[in-house]
Amino acid sequence: MLFRFGLDFTVPDKEGRPFTLTSLLGRYVVLYFYPRAGTPGCTQEARAFQELLPRFRALGAEVVGVSPDRPEALARFAHKHGLEFPLLSDGEGVLAQAYGVRAGRRLQRSTFLLDRAGVVRWAWRRVRVPGHAEEVLRTLEALAQADQAINGLIAARRAKRALRPDPLPPAAIERLVEAAHLAPSCFNNQPWRFVVAQGEKLAAVKNALPGGNYWALKSPAILAVASHPDLDCRLSDNRDYFLFDCGLAVGFLMVQATQMGLVAHPIAGYDPIAVKEALGIPKDYVLITLVVLGWPGDPAELSDKHREIELGPRVRKPLAAVLGWNSLPKEER
Ligand SMILES: Cc1cc2nc3c(=O)[nH]c(=O)nc-3n(C[C@H](O)[C@H](O)[C@H](O)COP(=O)(O)O)c2cc1C
Repeated sequence: MLFRFGLDFTVPDKEGRPFTLTSLLGRYVVLYFYPRAGTPGCTQEARAFQELLPRFRALGAEVVGVSPDRPEALARFAHKHGLEFPLLSDGEGVLAQAYGVRAGRRLQRSTFLLDRAGVVRWAWRRVRVPGHAEEVLRTLEALAQADQAINGLIAARRAKRALRPDPLPPAAIERLVEAAHLAPSCFNNQPWRFVVAQGEKLAAVKNALPGGNYWALKSPAILAVASHPDLDCRLSDNRDYFLFDCGLAVGFLMVQATQMGLVAHPIAGYDPIAVKEALGIPKDYVLITLVVLGWPGDPAELSDKHREIELGPRVRKPLAAVLGWNSLPKEER
């Protein structure tokens, strides 16, 4: 069981004060469940975490112990063994329930490692105490290092062209649009409008593609992204934000598609008048892009040029061409 938002809880700490776990956002959290303060196993585990606490904290992590004990018992436990990390009193089993660490009336000794966004990234169940805190520390070290790399889904996304013509479940398309719809927008205007083209409408859209986009003919569903400047902020200096916000939404959609093993390839190459007509999109709307959806297919079916791109490395200008510190990058001036 790995789930998100593992910090949406408030439980009493050892002083009996409400401790809101979301206050730990931005730090890694080692959330460890133990059955009972003061017993030999729980004491050994707590002392091991305490001993390694400076190293956990140096990696930006907080250790948090959770048990069904009452706050007074936790206060005594912490005082006796010099425990400096928070101990939470989960008497009602709210956290134990949420993390699924209850085995009947017993609590299963378990540890969860949450990342800086509160997402559970690692879980240990039926923990054996000797060597456990060290293992958690090693896992955290590896995780913290991996989190400094480019996000895996962003790195994996490509504008792939080889498509398998298998149908796409409507629920998958809806999920993609749900992800897009979570994008930020100016004043939360949500200017994006999506039209899924399927069946006859899909055929009409495909008719509006130029020869260069031949590969999109295999797509089982194409998504039109349309908007109007009035649907979003219009500020001075020509800052109409509808295009920007729709771009963010499509960005989110592509990341979600990558996670779901799908291709979501935006294109500008189409006859906008024909597509608008086919999909009933008003003339004064901007048809910003078509997103070609589908399952990854066989690159052998692509043109030589496209196969080379499909199988080749990602092409980008050097970072210095697009990133300037305190002024525009020199090359672009
Ligand atoms: C707005 C936009 C329009 C695009 N139009 C087309 C298109 O008409 N046909 C096509 O094959 N690829 C099109 N692409 C894909 C780009 O060529 C591709 O994203 C770029 O080469 C970078 O490759 P990558 O996405 O794999 O990193 C378009 C991409 C964007 C964002």
